[in-house]
Amino acid sequence: MVTNFLQNHQVQNNQFLLPKRHFVIYALYALIPLALLHYLLFNPVATAKKSVVVSQVREEAAVAISSHHEHVKVNDKHRHVSPPDDGDEVLKKDAKAGETPPPPPCDYSDGEWVPNARPPLYNGTSCATIKDGQNCMAHGRPDTGYLHWRWRPRRCDLPAFSPDAFLGWLRDKHLAFVGDSLARNQAESLMCLLASRSPPELVYRDGEENKFRRWAFREHNATVSIFWSPFLVKVAEKAEHAGVRHNNVFLDAFDERWLSQLAALDAVVLSIGHWFLIPGIYHDAGGEVVGCHDCAEFNHTEIPFFGVFKQAVHRTLAEINRRHVLAGGGDKVVAFTTFSPAHFEGDWDKAGACNKTRPYKNAEKEAGYTEKEMRKTVVEEVAAASAAAAGTGLRFAALDVTTLADLRPDGHPGPYMRNDPFAGGAGPRVQNDCVHWCMPGAIDTFNEILLQTITS
Ligand SMILES: *[C@@H]1O[C@H](CO)[C@@H](O)[C@H](O)[C@H]1NC(C)=O
Ligand SMILES: *[C@@H]1O[C@H](CO)[C@@H](O)[C@H](O)[C@H]1NC(C)=O
Ligand SMILES: *[C@@H]1O[C@H](CO)[C@@H](O)[C@H](O)[C@H]1NC(C)=O
Ligand SMILES: *[C@@H]1O[C@H](CO)[C@@H](O)[C@H](O)[C@H]1NC(C)=O
Repeated sequence: MVTNFLQNHQVQNNQFLLPKRHFVIYALYALIPLALLHYLLFNPVATAKKSVVVSQVREEAAVAISSHHEHVKVNDKHRHVSPPDDGDEVLKKDAKAGETPPPPPCDYSDGEWVPNARPPLYNGTSCATIKDGQNCMAHGRPDTGYLHWRWRPRRCDLPAFSPDAFLGWLRDKHLAFVGDSLARNQAESLMCLLASRSPPELVYRDGEENKFRRWAFREHNATVSIFWSPFLVKVAEKAEHAGVRHNNVFLDAFDERWLSQLAALDAVVLSIGHWFLIPGIYHDAGGEVVGCHDCAEFNHTEIPFFGVFKQAVHRTLAEINRRHVLAGGGDKVVAFTTFSPAHFEGDWDKAGACNKTRPYKNAEKEAGYTEKEMRKTVVEEVAAASAAAAGTGLRFAALDVTTLADLRPDGHPGPYMRNDPFAGGAGPRVQNDCVHWCMPGAIDTFNEILLQTITS
């Protein structure tokens, strides 16, 4: 089984002659079932609440596996990244981070990672909301260089995260993160950043899988929520244990678990994408199947996932606009985090799957086709929704992190998704998470940009 998986993968690696889009689809056929089975067979979860954890891990694994086809194209010739030094320009600006003068429009998406001596605002022991699988330091990740970079936009400045500025803005407000496990990763990063200043209180949590949570910052009368919604629209999620390996996605119906709360939210961060790469059947008006992705066993038409992703994004943003107007308008900001790339470089169950310890320099790494398309869709749809919302008090913004995230192959947990993965001798086969982000780490930058976006 494992051998098949590996062989399949090697073969797929050599098929770059296929048009990229087709390559993606065919690679997924080969990879998903084998990889998932493999994952479940080798899943050593040991916790009191085993069933809960298993389903959570499984969902993360699906995402991890789904992105495995993203083969990184690296130009090895230019891999010279200078080490972190002590020259830190951010420190000087910190004094004025409390104020929020209206900054000139800045393109935060274009820039480079530069060394940064300043320590992160939190760590694995100081913050309680780090998900176990992303607590890289606590799990024994030996290198710490990945903690010492900051993103420097080319033509403007990105201030270091200011918990005071964020909490000041959040006073009497409710901010919600809506999306998949990367939305949750970003929300948990924000919680740690804010907790470094003011302790949050968990006031609500969905008993089952921790997918719906709400925290209050009492001092500030501020609320942060997480809503699980990996497609934004309605879905009947796959259930591997019951033999259902496809998500059934309903493009003409909304996910009311979060959308029904819209009127009560002052700010929303949407973040989806990876779940469109895994097997899915897509339904439209009247329940009609309009296509499916990675579904050789059915007679549905195979469709590229880009189109249904665009539909889901478009319809959701249009519905937000519609409901906002219906509810009488008012100030609201909706930020949409663009696609966050994975960095598997070879076999996902091998120790080296994403073991880089330095960022790429811009010239070293060209974004893949999938990443570019997914990003472009969000940027375009946000611009369209923005135009439609003119004068209603509702503001849309793309949180354009695809490039900066793509340059951080060093930022993922890799084998350190588990505690002490090499205990008892380095086995050749360990699971790697090259999709989510270590905390603290690169994902904190998403929230530095979020702060600038919501306060601008
Ligand atoms: C984590 O942060 C706390 C509080 O800032 C600090 O006391 C501790 O030394 C830090 N631990 C590590 C490993 O950096
Ligand atoms: C607290 O914030 C909520 C909005 O999240 C607002 O409706 C309420 O009026 C605020 N309470 C006070 C005492 O300002
Ligand atoms: C697919 O179509 C073929 C021929 O039309 C039919 O024989 C087969 O039963 C169908 N399979 C499914 C799963 O519906
Ligand atoms: C990363 O993994 C590859 C393949 O296993 C190995 O050759 C390389 O030495 C590793 N690099 C580091 C920095 O551990």
